[in-house]
Amino acid sequence: MKRLVIVSNRVPVPKEGLRPGGLAVVLKDLLARKGGMWFGWNGTCHPDAAHLPPEIQQAEGVEYATIGLTPAEHRNYYTGFSNSTLWPLMHSLPEHIHFERRELATYWSVNERFCENLLPLLRAEDVIWIHDYHLLPLPALLRRHGVRQPIGFFLHTPFPAPDMLATAPDGGTFLRDLMKADLLGFQTADDTANFIFAATRKAGAIAEDDSTLTFERRRVHVGTFPVEIDPQTFAQTAVTAAGSADLRRLSGSLAGRKLIFGVDRMDPTKGLDHRLAGYERLLETYPRRERQVTFLQIAAESRTDVPSYQVLRNKLEHQIGKLNAHKGQADWTPLRFLTRGSPRPTVAGYMRLADIGYITPLRDGMNLVAKEFIAAQDPENPGVLILSRLAGAAKQLEAALLVNPLDHDGMADALERALAMSPEERRERWQACWNSIANRTALGWGLSFLNILENAKRR
Ligand code: G6P
Repeated sequence: MKRLVIVSNRVPVPKEGLRPGGLAVVLKDLLARKGGMWFGWNGTCHPDAAHLPPEIQQAEGVEYATIGLTPAEHRNYYTGFSNSTLWPLMHSLPEHIHFERRELATYWSVNERFCENLLPLLRAEDVIWIHDYHLLPLPALLRRHGVRQPIGFFLHTPFPAPDMLATAPDGGTFLRDLMKADLLGFQTADDTANFIFAATRKAGAIAEDDSTLTFERRRVHVGTFPVEIDPQTFAQTAVTAAGSADLRRLSGSLAGRKLIFGVDRMDPTKGLDHRLAGYERLLETYPRRERQVTFLQIAAESRTDVPSYQVLRNKLEHQIGKLNAHKGQADWTPLRFLTRGSPRPTVAGYMRLADIGYITPLRDGMNLVAKEFIAAQDPENPGVLILSRLAGAAKQLEAALLVNPLDHDGMADALERALAMSPEERRERWQACWNSIANRTALGWGLSFLNILENAKRR
C-alpha cells in the first residue's frame, strides 16, 4: 500500500501542544486515516538545529519527522522571506511586501535542508504531498536528487494575478520549480487560472487543456481543490458547546443584545482594521443600533516578529480604544476584542450564539471560519454570514451577504441588513450556504487530491 508523506513548514506534533493553524486542522484527519509521515519544522529554534538529524516520533497512528530552525533561519526564512515577502505577495498586498536578498538566500537554503533531511526517510512506494508557500522550491530540489515518486503541491493561499507576480523576486524560477511536481492544486478556479496564465506566459509551459500543462517534456496536472471542513462534526461540536458554562456566561453578559462575531489570526490579510471601521460606521449611520449590539472579535496573535504584524497590532489597539471610548456608554461596551485564542469547541459555541458572522478578509485563500460559521448555526434560527467577496469561500457561499472589505459604508449597510433580516430570509440564505458545504469533508478534499495525484503519475 502507498504511504502518504506530507511536507509542510509547520508540523503540529500533538505532544508539543502547539496551537494548530488552518492547515493542520485539515490534514490531521487525512494522515490518521491513511497512515504515513508528516515532515517539517517542529516550531522550535536552536543554534545547533542545522546539524541535528530529524526527530522521529509516533502519535495517534502518524509518524512525525521534524527538524528545528536556527535563529537566523527563523528570522530570514520564516519571519523574512516566507511571511514578509511571499505571504503579502500571494495575497496581493504590495504595501506589506518587504524583500531582502539575504532572506531569499536563506529561504533557498532552508528548502535544501528540508530536502536533505527528507530524502533518507523516503520509501519507493511513497506519495509526497507538499504544502504551501514556504516550500515552493521543494518539488524541483527533490527531483534534482533523483526522487521519482509522485509529488503533489497544494497552495493554501491565493495565487496572484500576473502583474502582482512580477513583484516576486525571481518569480519565473518558482514557477519552474513548482512544475517539477505531478499535480499542482489551488483553492479556487481563479487561482488555477492565474497559475496557468503565469506558467504559460512567463515560464515556457504549454497548456494542453485547462488542467494539463507540458513543461520540459513532462506532463503537469493542475486543478482546483477548495479546502473543506467536516460540517457535521463541527455542527455537533457547536450544539454541545452551546450548553457549556462558558457560553452561558457570554450569553448572560450580552443582556439580550445581538452578537456580531469574528475570529481570525491577527494578520494584515484579515482586514481587521477595516472591519472595525465598518462596525463603527454602522453605529454612526444607524445610531438606533447603539446598545442593541455587541461585537466580539477574537484575533489570536500570530507571527509576532513580522514588522507589518506589529504595526497592525499597534493600529488596532489605538482603534479599539478609540471606538470604545467614543461610542461606549457607562453600561455598554460596543467592542470586545480578544488577542488570546480560544479552544475550538468554545469558538464553535460562540458562532452558534452569534446573530452575525462578520468575516471580511482583504483576501484569503479559502477562509474555513466562514464555513464553520455556517456549520455552527441552528437551522431553525440561523445567524447571518457577512463575508468578504475576496475570500475563496465566497465562491461557494454565494448566499452569504458578500461585501467589499474596504468599503466601510457597504459593511455598515450589510450589518444593518443582517440585523433587520427576517427569519425566513435568514433560513433561506443559511440553507443555500449549508447545501454548498454539507456533503463535503476535509477528508474528501484530501482524498480527491491524492486520487488525482496517483492517477496523474500513472498516466
Ligand atoms: C495559514 C497558512 C499555513 C500556516 C497557518 C498558520 O493558514 O496557509 O501554511 O501554517 O496560516 O501560520 P503559521 O505561520 O503560524 O504557521
